[in-house]
Amino acid sequence: MQNTLERFERLDALVNNAGIMLLGMALHATVEEWDRMVSLNVSALLHVTHAAVPYLIDAAVTSRRQVADIVNVSSTAGRVARPGSSVYNPTKFGLNGFTEALRQELLAERVRVGVVEPGTVQTELTNHLGDAVRDAALRQVSAIEPLRAQDVADAVGYIVTRERRVAVNEMLLRAGDQTW
Ligand SMILES: NC(=O)c1ccc[n+]([C@@H]2O[C@H](COP(=O)([O-])OP(=O)(O)OC[C@H]3O[C@@H](n4cnc5c(N)ncnc54)[C@H](OP(=O)(O)O)[C@@H]3O)[C@@H](O)[C@H]2O)c1
Repeated sequence: MQNTLERFERLDALVNNAGIMLLGMALHATVEEWDRMVSLNVSALLHVTHAAVPYLIDAAVTSRRQVADIVNVSSTAGRVARPGSSVYNPTKFGLNGFTEALRQELLAERVRVGVVEPGTVQTELTNHLGDAVRDAALRQVSAIEPLRAQDVADAVGYIVTRERRVAVNEMLLRAGDQTW
């Protein structure tokens, strides 16, 4: 946050995107993997948001647009639970709940809080998985054309460029062929 403020002198939008997805059946997972997911997908996100909110409130007051934004990157895994995803799921279900509560809390401050829920996106997300779990995950999506990172960036860009009267609270963005 300090680096950002030193560079730009203000903060108009926070996009909570960093995340990790360590898939695998609970029976075979390690608690260290679960701790890594909770630490980044939940705790780090909460800490960054806590640090950012005062500056966002200030930006909403001082900017010409009279609004500032938080956009949280959740997932279809924040809406649909599946085997192999038993801890990734609650990190994203929880994020959806945090988003909605914070949205209501910051309404009066003119800080919008929204969530984007992508389906399958072509990124490095599966690189952290072990070979067997990664192969199974990639097999599951092999028949569909994934979203591109730019598609998610477009969704975020759309949300943060709306006029103050418009609040895009939630955007579910599946790959076109995706059923779940
Ligand atoms: N890919 C999908 O299919 C998909 C679907 C739904 C939702 N999502 C969500 O999209 C978000 C972005 O993931 P991605 O698919 O773009 O995966 P990715 O290619 O692996 O990128 C992960 C991002 O998180 C950052 N990151 C990882 N560990 C970090 C740490 N300990 N501290 C700070 N930053 C860290 C990475 O930064 P560095 O590059 O600097 O390491 C990178 O920018 C995640 O929240 C993920 O859950 C992804």
